[in-house]
Amino acid sequence: MTLTMIERKNSSKLLLSVQNLKIQYRKKNEYIEAVEDVSFNIDRGKVVALVGESGSGKTTTALAIPNLLPANAIIKEGVILYKGKNLIQATHEELRAIRGKEIGMVFQDPTSFLDPLMRVGDQVAEVIVKHESIKKKEAILKAKNILEKMRVTEPERIYYYYPHQLSGGMAQRVVIGMAIACQPSLLIADEPTSNLDLTVQAQILNLLKALNHELGMSILLISHDLGVVSGIADRVVIMYAGRIMEEGDVHSIFKNPRHPYTRALLVASELGEDMVKQQNDFPSDLLSSSSGCCYRHKCPYVMERCKENPIEILLDQDSRVYCWLYSNES
Ligand SMILES: Nc1ncnc2c1ncn2[C@@H]1O[C@H](COP(=O)(O)OP(=O)(O)O)[C@@H](O)[C@H]1O
Ligand code: SF4
Ligand SMILES: [Mg+2]
Repeated sequence: MTLTMIERKNSSKLLLSVQNLKIQYRKKNEYIEAVEDVSFNIDRGKVVALVGESGSGKTTTALAIPNLLPANAIIKEGVILYKGKNLIQATHEELRAIRGKEIGMVFQDPTSFLDPLMRVGDQVAEVIVKHESIKKKEAILKAKNILEKMRVTEPERIYYYYPHQLSGGMAQRVVIGMAIACQPSLLIADEPTSNLDLTVQAQILNLLKALNHELGMSILLISHDLGVVSGIADRVVIMYAGRIMEEGDVHSIFKNPRHPYTRALLVASELGEDMVKQQNDFPSDLLSSSSGCCYRHKCPYVMERCKENPIEILLDQDSRVYCWLYSNES
């Protein structure tokens, strides 16, 4: 952990601090290093974007926060401090209380999250009843209110719809409504717009931005597309092959990207190329357990020193990069 992180950890603005997270998956007799030495902070009221191509460990990192990892995942190391409490050591009861009420989650496919046999409004009301000691009638009113806040057209009518009657964008609004129904301090949105067309994608991002502004809710926004996060994120964390490559405020990432991978992501986003279509699994020699920079097989600047794992290089008080190109700047 760097000094910057220690200082920020003590700040009263700090909501979440992920420190030195290392996660493996067990697959038969093999171990996949999905996340290696990942550290980042989220301050209260801020939007942090986690960006990287498919397979880079974004979802694994996100699922680790509320402890929703699949059974074959093993957290080998790390600390996840939420409001000062280490969630990795939290009991089932503590986690149940935190999920939904303190930390809301939204995933890529809203329909897989919704119960096909239940009216969508009732699904929002159910979340409220679960976490707040109020009567069903009151929860229904609150749920209709939430649907309206989610900019669902005709919330009184849509409340009684079943999931299959909703468009993708409308279903995602309902799921976001469920996630924020109890006004959590943190919303984790994992590729919430990836399956939506561009206009609807912009609407959902605007909705998230409004929730961040109006409710002061912190958001961890995950995307494979750097362009998607530009209008909403305060800070950006770039991941590749399970590791962080670079972190900085949104302006420095876009105006002055340092890591060769960040630059490649930026070019891909400007050209409208989809990094998600790249290989889904990294070849085992590229995964973080191997020594050397994990980006060296693709990096145009690769040099002898890149056979060693790059260390964290602080660029200024608030940005860092893992790349030997900057070792003289620290
Ligand atoms: N349940 C799982 N079992 C085994 N390996 C997994 C599982 N989920 C993800 N992985 C592997 O972990 C790595 C990171 O995956 P993931 O966190 O889903 O990345 P991203 O969200 O960035 O696409 C990938 O190599 C992926 O194949
Ligand atoms: S450490 Fe070397 S291989 Fe890795 S990104 Fe930097 S220059 Fe490229
Ligand atoms: Mg993912």
